[in-house]
Amino acid sequence: MTPLARFSALVEQRLGLHFEKEQWRELELLLTDRSAKTGVEGYLTLLNSPSAQSEWKAIAERLTVNETYFLRHPTQLEALVTQVLPSFSRQTPHLRVLCAGCSTGEEPYSVALLSRERGLVDPARLRVLGIDVNSRVLSHARRACYSPWSLRAVPEGSRDRWFQRTPEGFVLRPHLRDQVTFEERNLLQEAPAFWAPGSFHAILFRNVVIYFPPEVTRKIVARMARSLVPGGYLFLGPSETLRGISDEFELLRTGDAFYYRLKTPASAAVPAPIGLPATPSQMDLPAVAPPPPPPPEGLDGVLQSLEAERYEEAWARLDAMPGASQPQGQLLRAVLHLNAGRFAEAERAGRQLLSMGATEASAHFLLGVCLEQSGDDAGARDRYAAAARADPTFALSHLRSGTLARRAGDVAEARVALRMAVSLLPHEKPLMLTLFGGGFGRHGLMQVGLRELQACMEVP
Ligand SMILES: C[S@@+](CC[C@H](N)C(=O)[O-])C[C@H]1O[C@@H](n2cnc3c(N)ncnc32)[C@H](O)[C@@H]1O
Repeated sequence: MTPLARFSALVEQRLGLHFEKEQWRELELLLTDRSAKTGVEGYLTLLNSPSAQSEWKAIAERLTVNETYFLRHPTQLEALVTQVLPSFSRQTPHLRVLCAGCSTGEEPYSVALLSRERGLVDPARLRVLGIDVNSRVLSHARRACYSPWSLRAVPEGSRDRWFQRTPEGFVLRPHLRDQVTFEERNLLQEAPAFWAPGSFHAILFRNVVIYFPPEVTRKIVARMARSLVPGGYLFLGPSETLRGISDEFELLRTGDAFYYRLKTPASAAVPAPIGLPATPSQMDLPAVAPPPPPPPEGLDGVLQSLEAERYEEAWARLDAMPGASQPQGQLLRAVLHLNAGRFAEAERAGRQLLSMGATEASAHFLLGVCLEQSGDDAGARDRYAAAARADPTFALSHLRSGTLARRAGDVAEARVALRMAVSLLPHEKPLMLTLFGGGFGRHGLMQVGLRELQACMEVP
């Protein structure tokens, strides 16, 4: 085995993160960087030793993907705070929610925030715990200070109610912050005390398993199942599934939100058909709404599924779509990869689109998002600028250019781009908003643009 293959295997064994061969360049750069003092062989030996803990921390900080934002996948969060949590007996003193892979904290804080807004659970009863393997993101979570981009899905009224605007950013108000705690924890570690039976009423494990191979996910989900109260709930990301991973849960659906409930002995006897709403049984179950009508065929169907964040359905519709290999199909494929956080695949598809000489503005934009995710803001700005050159009316490219320019301190350039974005957004094509709006409508994006512009104006 080459040193790089050994490094990749160690990363998978220790952190669960699986890297395809095409993604090994990232590992190679990291290996070269970290082994500068010890040499590659010495470094690989060190990683196997018990004293390598701080080194693994550094690796986790470099390799984990931490994309998140407040009120992400809102229909699931609504189901959690309006149906799932209130369904537990009022005699239960504490409702414990775990966010596994909580990144910079937006997800656990969103649970606390939305629960207070809906008012169906006494805040004193709700305890939210966020865990993550990356200590850097946890420090951010504990600081609870966020950029406007992180709050892009939070309506203005809620933003004013729950955050204090400071020169550093939007700081979460203390009473909300106090409901949430954070712990550094690697999901691959057994930790029987942490995963003790009955520890949690609901677990959010969203947008994490996409980076794990199935056998790793299987082990973690089995541990989670043991740690839930009887009939407890598990939420995965909309593009993730327990199919082939666990049969200890049944699938529930409320409107567009899918989630799982641990089977009770009674419900296990009559398994709910996969993919269909499960039947509420004898417990205090959440009401399960009837399934929405099927989306239309072809491109419109894919877009409708995408807009509703039903990614699995979008993939299925895309595969069935005539002309799926044409540029438009390829573009949709790239956007679906992007939404699932598979940036290497999205980048590949974006480059392919460019080589097809079609949908140039979209392809550049897509590549810009991938670069931004990898922390290369300068490269991303170049891509957004190229997108704007290819289609000067593409509002979102001006919006991202402006945001990045402001972040880099180029206030004059940021103002020009953001003014352009704000003037073009009312006319932006609905297709572009669906593909690249990150789940936000015209109004939400307009708010982001105006806030960014206002922030530029505040700089002398
Ligand atoms: C894309 S973020 C998801 C954030 C949030 N759950 C959401 O849906 O917005 C994935 C998070 O999983 C964390 N993660 C990855 N591998 C992990 C592991 N082995 N143990 C704990 N956390 C892990 C990463 O550090 C990252 O912050």
